Amino acid sequence: MRPPGFTPGAYWGAMNATPTDTIVVRNSGALGGTVDVPGAKNSVLKLMATTILTDGTFELTNVPDIVDVAIMGELLAAIGVEMIRPEPGTLLLTNSGDITPVAPYELVEKIRASINVLGPLLTRCGEVRLSMPGGDDFGSRPIDMHVSGLEDMGAQFKFSHGYLEARCERLHGADIIFDFPSVGATENLLTAAVFADGRTTIDNAAREPEITDLCNFLVAMGADISGIGTSKLTVVGVERDALRPVRHHTVPDRIQAATYLAAAAVSQGELDVRGIRPTDMTMLLDRFTDMGLELTDIDDGLHVRAPERLRSIDIATLPYPGIATDYKPLIITMLAVADGVGIVTENLYPGRFRYVEELQRLGADVTTTGHHAVVRGVPRLSGAPVKAHDIRAGAAMVVAGLAAEGETTISGVHHIDRGYDDLVGRLRAVGAGIERC
Ligand code: UD1
Repeated sequence: MRPPGFTPGAYWGAMNATPTDTIVVRNSGALGGTVDVPGAKNSVLKLMATTILTDGTFELTNVPDIVDVAIMGELLAAIGVEMIRPEPGTLLLTNSGDITPVAPYELVEKIRASINVLGPLLTRCGEVRLSMPGGDDFGSRPIDMHVSGLEDMGAQFKFSHGYLEARCERLHGADIIFDFPSVGATENLLTAAVFADGRTTIDNAAREPEITDLCNFLVAMGADISGIGTSKLTVVGVERDALRPVRHHTVPDRIQAATYLAAAAVSQGELDVRGIRPTDMTMLLDRFTDMGLELTDIDDGLHVRAPERLRSIDIATLPYPGIATDYKPLIITMLAVADGVGIVTENLYPGRFRYVEELQRLGADVTTTGHHAVVRGVPRLSGAPVKAHDIRAGAAMVVAGLAAEGETTISGVHHIDRGYDDLVGRLRAVGAGIERC
C-alpha cells in the first residue's frame, strides 16, 4: 500500500501531461539572467534503486521533478520501497524489508534505468524476475555485460516470455573486465558486489560523475569500495547488517546544465548557470570555448556569454571523461547555426541521429552517414512543427526553436518531461518566448 502523500498526479505536475501537449518556442532574442540546475536524472534513479539493499528510510535531496523519478517510485512501490515527496526536491524512501523481487513489464518498459533494480534485488533476495527494460528510441540497448558479470559472480540466468529470471546463493567476488565501460553494467555490478562473499574488481569500469555519486552513496551506507572515480573499482562484500539508510544530496545534472549553456549560445545570450559542477564537464566546456563561448567560474556554477556567431568544430562522443552522447543533439543544434562545417562522430549509439530529420525541417544543413553527421552552419533556422523523439533530442528541439525565425512547435513533449525539470519555466524566466500548450 502507498503511504499517504504518494499520489504521482498531485505531486508530479508533468505526470498529467497528455500525448497532445506541445511546446511552442518563438524567437525572442538574447537570453539573460540566472538558471538554477537541479540534480541529475541519471544519478537519482540509480540511488533510488539502491535503497532496495537495506531496510529503513533514506532521504534524497536535489531531486529533479521529472516523470522518470515518479515512474521509478512506482516501480519501487511494486517491489516494496515506498516513496513520498515531503517537499519539492526531496524524497523519502522507506524500505520496510518486505521486498518482492519482481519488476513488471508495465513499469519497466517505460524507463531504461529500471534495469538498475537487477543488482540490488539479486544480491539481497537471491532471485529476481525482471521484464526486459525499455528506454529511449535510439536503437538497441543490450544488457549482455550486466548478465555476464553477474554470472561470473555466481548468478544463473534464464530468459523467457520477455522476462529475465536470475537466481543465486550468496554471490561471490569476481574479477570482471569490461569490453566497454558501460554505465548501467558498472552500476549493477557495484550494487550486486556490496553483499557478495569476498572481493570484486571491475576493470574498465565507467567513471561518469553519476557513478561516483552512486559509489559515495554506497560508501556512506557502509559499503567497502575503493578506486572511486577511476576505471578500476574494488568492492569488498559486507554482511547484510553492515548497511544503513542515509541522507544524500544528488550530484548536479551536467546534461541539463549543457542545455542551458546551449540555449545561451544559440540566442547570443548571457546567463549565470548555477547549481552545477563545471569539473564534471571539463571536456565539453573546452569544446564550447573553442566554439567561441566565454565561460567564467562563478559561485556555484558558470557565467556564459555567447559570441555573435558560434564557430564550427569537429567533435566525437566517448565514455566519460569524453564528450557524452547525451550532449550530442545539443551540439549538433549549436553547429547548425555556427560559422563553418563541423563533423560529429557518434561512438556509443549508432542510431542516435533520428532528430536530425527534425532539425532539417527547421532548415539545418545536416547530412548523416553511419556514425557521422556533417553539419554546415546556416545563419538562422526557420520555425516549423517538429517532434521530440527522446529526452535529449526533445531538449535540442527547444534550443533549436530559440535559434529559429518565427514559431517552432514541438510535439512528443512527454519525452522531455522524463528528464527535464520545468524546462519551459526555466527558459521563460530568462527571457525565452516559450510556452506549453
Ligand atoms: C546511460 C545513460 C544514458 C547515456 C549512456 C551513455 C542512464 C539511465 N542512461 O545509459 O543517458 O546515454 O549511459 O553515457 O543513466 N552496451 C552493451 N551491452 C551492455 C551494456 C551496454 O553492448 O550490457 C552498449 C550499449 O548498447 C551502448 C553502450 O554500451 O552502445 C553504452 O551503454 P551504457 O553505458 O550501458 O549506457 P546506459 O547505462 O544504458
